[in-house]
Amino acid sequence: MLDWFLMKDVNLGIVGLGNVGGGTLTILAENAEEISRKLGFRLNVTAVCSRSAKSKTLPAGCTPALITTDWREVVAHPDVEIVAELVGGTGVAREIVEGAIAAGKSVVTANKELIALDGAAIWKKAAAKGVTLAMEASVCGGIPIHAVLREGIAGDRIETLFGILNGTSNYILTEIEQHGSDFAAVLAEAQRLGYAEADPSADIDGFDARSKLALLTSLAFGARLTPADIHTEGIRRIAPTDFEYARQLGCTIKLLCSARRAQGGLFVSVRPALLPRKTIMASVQGAYNAVWSRGTFGADTFYYGRGAGPNPTGVAVVSDLMRLAREVRPTAAHRVPPFAFTELTETRPLPIGEQKRPWYLRFRITDRPGIIRDLSSILAAHSISIDAVLQLPDLDKHNLPFVITLETSPEAAVRQAVEKMNSLEFMVEPPLAMPIERGI
Ligand SMILES: NC(=O)c1ccc[n+]([C@@H]2O[C@H](COP(=O)([O-])OP(=O)(O)OC[C@H]3O[C@@H](n4cnc5c(N)ncnc54)[C@H](OP(=O)(O)O)[C@@H]3O)[C@@H](O)[C@H]2O)c1
Repeated sequence: MLDWFLMKDVNLGIVGLGNVGGGTLTILAENAEEISRKLGFRLNVTAVCSRSAKSKTLPAGCTPALITTDWREVVAHPDVEIVAELVGGTGVAREIVEGAIAAGKSVVTANKELIALDGAAIWKKAAAKGVTLAMEASVCGGIPIHAVLREGIAGDRIETLFGILNGTSNYILTEIEQHGSDFAAVLAEAQRLGYAEADPSADIDGFDARSKLALLTSLAFGARLTPADIHTEGIRRIAPTDFEYARQLGCTIKLLCSARRAQGGLFVSVRPALLPRKTIMASVQGAYNAVWSRGTFGADTFYYGRGAGPNPTGVAVVSDLMRLAREVRPTAAHRVPPFAFTELTETRPLPIGEQKRPWYLRFRITDRPGIIRDLSSILAAHSISIDAVLQLPDLDKHNLPFVITLETSPEAAVRQAVEKMNSLEFMVEPPLAMPIERGI
């Protein structure tokens, strides 16, 4: 009886089947095996809901017992143990979250607006009911920043937290910087490509980032803030000229969210700011997000990833569902295993020689005619193609460094060719071979 309880699946109700709901269902269906290897039991999608739920195409393998347009049916369903609110806004979303809590169900939400506005009160209601609230997806969809602040660096005392928390505005600033186009043109293009909403105010005037910063400030400093109290400026006035001047100062411009401890309180703001180009934050381009925290003890840590999108945000929702699913089975067997998976599979790495990569070969040689011919004939004998030959001018001909880059080739063949090359009489030292990781 006990074993049966330990291994029992956990049943989910998903309300909201748009971008995030769709991504969540896809991951739950397509990654079901990996998820159950980690949990030791399965997550079942028992009920789904949206205004147009009946006409939605669900992912293969997703066969809920209930498909409804009325969220109340999901919350009231006797088998549903955890409800995901993926609707958004502060109206019906609040009713769903509070309705689920009142029904004794734990809740996962991606809703920064609702949680930034009223999360603390909602959490009190959940705690009083003995259920849990999880909200990883609400800030920086693809970066597990809640888990980091809540657990990963909980032992530190955060002094400063910086964030690039809105992908749309970061995309617009990156485009202005790279192409010198003016703000209105870049915004129009971003809207055409679907990166910016028809009403872009929440993104470009800083309000979306403000809600996210309010949430991160709670997690980092234990502070409850009203988002409207945060000093907020948007990016509408940033022009190509600002980037030209910023460059002269060794800087770039970002919509920077910042919260820092000071004597007597916290400085909290969202506004465009100049950042030295050599900082890691300055290299965050396009629709990416980042958070940089500085602690009294652990110093600097940096987190980077996609800020939004069905799949990155879906991963955050599914990971929250997994965490809460463990908590509704409150036994030692359901704590997070230290190795992430309940059991590790005996594994040996594949032979590295089978790996295919582009390569960088650096030679030091005594120069004479025919060197490239000799090297390329060895490469050709191993079916390896040359990508480029690079040589800096005016170097010492008796110890001449030059480089050959190779097209994607199996490592074993490259190693064999390099060994052959090493025996050539003009080599001053063994060739240096390094893979080129272009996909990083
Ligand atoms: N999009 C992202 O990348 C992202 C990233 C991080 C966080 N979030 C947050 O995730 C949440 C969802 O965003 P989203 O982009 O997925 O929104 P979305 O694409 O607009 O989807 C919203 C869903 O909610 C459903 N819905 C609306 N009103 C409803 C009601 N009264 N009853 C039942 N269902 C209702 C809609 O139904 P229909 O489909 O039938 O109209 C739709 O399926 C928001 O809180 C957002 O801030 C989004």
